[in-house]
Amino acid sequence: MANIIDGKAISAAIRAEIKEETEAFFGQHGFRPGLAVIIVGEDPASQVYVRNKRRACEEVGFYSEAYELPHNTTQDELNALVDKLNADPAIHGILCQLPLPKHLDENEVILRIDPKKDVDAFHPTNVGRIMIGDYSFLPCTPAGVMALLARSGIEISGKECVVVGRSNIVGKPQAMLLLHANGTVTVCHSRTKNLAEVCRRADILVAAIGKADFFTGDMVKEGAVVIDVGMNRRADGKLTGDVDFESVAPKASYITPVPGGVGPMTITMLMQNTLTAAKESVK
Ligand code: GUN
Repeated sequence: MANIIDGKAISAAIRAEIKEETEAFFGQHGFRPGLAVIIVGEDPASQVYVRNKRRACEEVGFYSEAYELPHNTTQDELNALVDKLNADPAIHGILCQLPLPKHLDENEVILRIDPKKDVDAFHPTNVGRIMIGDYSFLPCTPAGVMALLARSGIEISGKECVVVGRSNIVGKPQAMLLLHANGTVTVCHSRTKNLAEVCRRADILVAAIGKADFFTGDMVKEGAVVIDVGMNRRADGKLTGDVDFESVAPKASYITPVPGGVGPMTITMLMQNTLTAAKESVK
């Protein structure tokens, strides 16, 4: 039976370190890292994320601002808010919660956020910097996966790493980070032929396709490390990952549960990026 990677415990340990660093930063510079979170409209899931981000800021000792804008906010109004936050020295990180209502252009907002304050690492400047391995911020989910692997003592160098999913937010940057760590990386997606066969080659399998319980025991090599990025809601309302835990866990050497694996790490990595942005602002 696999070792279960406890994302909650690892996340709590990293937050304690961030809190300590934040107090030292405050002692040295007289101000706290500041994060602004923008949410447009009343999507309940987004509201929960925003509340959790605010709580996390309090926990680690950051200054934070939340902007809850009405659904009918115009692009000009949103742009004006981004411009104001770009110019505000008390704000080091800006996060605009996605998805935005349909009448707003997400790309325009991503491009407008100062890359130095882009704690999501969605701006093309930051995406490009990740590609060449010269980065300040990593997108929160793949960064969380790398931290889970590192803190579980899992070696990546020379390993067969299979990432299933090629989104800009998870799959593509995840592949790049594993490559920087000297993994041999394969990226699979919906058109991949013989997916199960490719997955069975993996020493480290990262599942990020958004299909509940898709990866079953027969798709996993004995002793593989299985990281489940999925967050799916079953018909009965239960949260479940992309990995069928029951059939995969007996074969894996390490596995992340859902909930309690990758999920808790993402906001922690956002805190990490905000601290980094504050540190870089005083360089
Ligand atoms: N919506 C869901 N996850 C995220 C995230 O990581 N960043 C932003 N900006 N919006 C999200």
